[in-house]
Amino acid sequence: MVHPSVTPVPLSFGACLLDAATADDVDAVADAFADPDIALWNPGARRPGATALERAELWVLDRSGWAPDHCSWVVRDVDRRLVGQVSIHSLDEEIDTGEIGYWLTRAGRGRGIGAAAVDTATRWAFDVIGLARIELFHAVENEASCRLAARCGYLLEGTARQSFVYGDGLRHDEHLHARLASDDVAALAPPL
Ligand SMILES: CC(C)(COP(=O)(O)OP(=O)(O)OC[C@H]1O[C@@H](n2cnc3c(N)ncnc32)[C@H](O)[C@@H]1OP(=O)(O)O)[C@@H](O)C(=O)NCCC(=O)NCCS
Repeated sequence: MVHPSVTPVPLSFGACLLDAATADDVDAVADAFADPDIALWNPGARRPGATALERAELWVLDRSGWAPDHCSWVVRDVDRRLVGQVSIHSLDEEIDTGEIGYWLTRAGRGRGIGAAAVDTATRWAFDVIGLARIELFHAVENEASCRLAARCGYLLEGTARQSFVYGDGLRHDEHLHARLASDDVAALAPPL
């Protein structure tokens, strides 16, 4: 694995963009965190004791520069509205692996943007930084995420029992999906 730059690399897919998060995104990120599905399935966005705006500010600060262990983007649609995020994190330079995470705002969902964004980030991580394997975890109950994973060629490898505490404070079983650089996955049609 080649370590990625600390400056985020923007990637376009169709008319959409995987872009660096900036301070101008804080309000949109705060709105996204207020979404019940994101609060439930992406609880890493929580910061105990912080206000909603402070949480969003901290998140943008964390994601706007790439650290040794993650590459993160916000997703912008054709109008350059923030409609989601994708992060390849937990990068392990010893064994060329990482883990992918994502959410889409309510306005961004159901348009193929999530799948295309995840596929675009995945291909970049294989081709440019040289990852060999990327893992993807979601709660077993999260059917939308399971479908997105399958759509992007992340094969279901098994169920991790009671492996993560989600936003409801409960432990959930999770599906482990993974995609290998050597997997032959057909390119997804980019969203409009
Ligand atoms: C999961 C999520 C990212 C999907 O994003 P999206 O942009 O709506 O997904 P896409 O439009 O690219 O669709 C990808 C696949 O998922 C399916 N899908 C999307 N939403 C779905 C839903 N609510 N129920 C069932 N399937 C769904 C689509 O039909 C498509 O499958 P197909 O190609 O077999 O038809 C989005 O719903 C989301 O952010 N949810 C809340 C937070 C979350 O779950 N985060 C992920 C934590 S692991």
